Amino acid sequence: MSWTRQDFPDTFLFGAATSAYQIEGHAFGGAGPTHWDSFAATPGNVVRAEHGARACDHYHRWQEDLDLLAGLGVDVYRFSTSWARVLPEGTGTPNAEGLDFYDRLVDGMLERGLKPAATLYHWELPQALADKGGWRNADMPDWFADFTEVVMRRIGDRVWSAAPINEPWCVGFLSHFLGAHAPGLRDIRATARAMHHVLVSHGRSIEVMRGLGLGNLGGVFNMEWANPVDDSPEAARATATYDAYYNRFFLEGIFTGSYPEQALEGLGPHLPQGWQDDFATIGQPLDWVGVNYYTRKNIAPAPGPWPALAEIDGPLPKTQMGWEIYPDGLYRFLKRVSDMVPDLPIFITENGMANDDVLSEGVVKDPERLAYIDGHLDACRRAIAEGVRLEGYFIWSLLDNYEWALGYEKRFGLIHVDFETLQRTPKASYHALAQRLR
Ligand code: FCB
Repeated sequence: MSWTRQDFPDTFLFGAATSAYQIEGHAFGGAGPTHWDSFAATPGNVVRAEHGARACDHYHRWQEDLDLLAGLGVDVYRFSTSWARVLPEGTGTPNAEGLDFYDRLVDGMLERGLKPAATLYHWELPQALADKGGWRNADMPDWFADFTEVVMRRIGDRVWSAAPINEPWCVGFLSHFLGAHAPGLRDIRATARAMHHVLVSHGRSIEVMRGLGLGNLGGVFNMEWANPVDDSPEAARATATYDAYYNRFFLEGIFTGSYPEQALEGLGPHLPQGWQDDFATIGQPLDWVGVNYYTRKNIAPAPGPWPALAEIDGPLPKTQMGWEIYPDGLYRFLKRVSDMVPDLPIFITENGMANDDVLSEGVVKDPERLAYIDGHLDACRRAIAEGVRLEGYFIWSLLDNYEWALGYEKRFGLIHVDFETLQRTPKASYHALAQRLR
């Protein structure tokens, strides 16, 4: 690898990220059912119908996992709090065991010198709320505000940073238009409503946290660079549409108080009545912007209704996910976000790769992962040198875990997990990074 900490500004923070449903084990500790459980139980949705009932059993092994984080030498641990663990019915009486768990976890981070970066919602919607329409329901912002309050009254005094919702695009579009994530809908009206309610919920949650006196609040957005397949005006138009509903919708909703025209072309007629009046709530001031970045997509025009585009297989080397490796996209997004909100610090809140890692005689060799991280850190350094206020980089993920609809097959971890024995084995990338971060 070509860098050390000295190649980054003194205050630059390195971190690792996980999320609740992907690692904890949702059968434990009184957590309520989530829409991921029912989605996974429906044939055809998830590879081998795998679910998060046990996952990495982090619920019981959290101390070992925090020790591994400390051994890695990162500054920040980005984790999430499960709504269904804290409020098994989505609203109403909290599960004391669930709150105790996050309380211990945060203390465990502080004891080890790790900064707790909390994300309130990373996709495990309580089933009881899904039954009421989930993100389509205009009451979601109220429910989410209440959940925010319950969690942050307990741990808000000790978290270093907090963000309401991981990747609004996935919660809205991937889950309600493409049907690839729970609740698995393919419905443009549901999509428009979910995308808007996610943003209103984000704003309400920020308001609640400010009211409780919390600082260092941000939003976490996933972005994929949109690359036209050719030079035609049709491809340019399709690419602009993709960029609008994927990369621009949520940021512009929050920072400019409007939605991009190319997204409204399709979604506009389906937004809830009075949506234009919600931007004051949506646009609550933030302290930082989080960017989750993995890949680019090659976009071609396609017949049919909005968005009238298709994703085409690209020529670049790919990860185990089939995602093209394209660090330049990260650099370009950093420049774009920085141009939009020059005063706000930016964090890469997720970046990493799935690899077909094999444990052999106690060792996992994953030079591909190191090269991937290296390439993306180069992009970060380029952006910093050009004045971008990038203040941290968090790797997805600490552990191999439940990769949603792709089950346990896709391995993103710096640490290998044997899903039979649950044994953790740090991979070569973990050891190399630990040396660099020391
Ligand atoms: C992101 C998710 C995370 C993980 C990575 C690979 O979109 O936030 O949970 O699935 O992708």
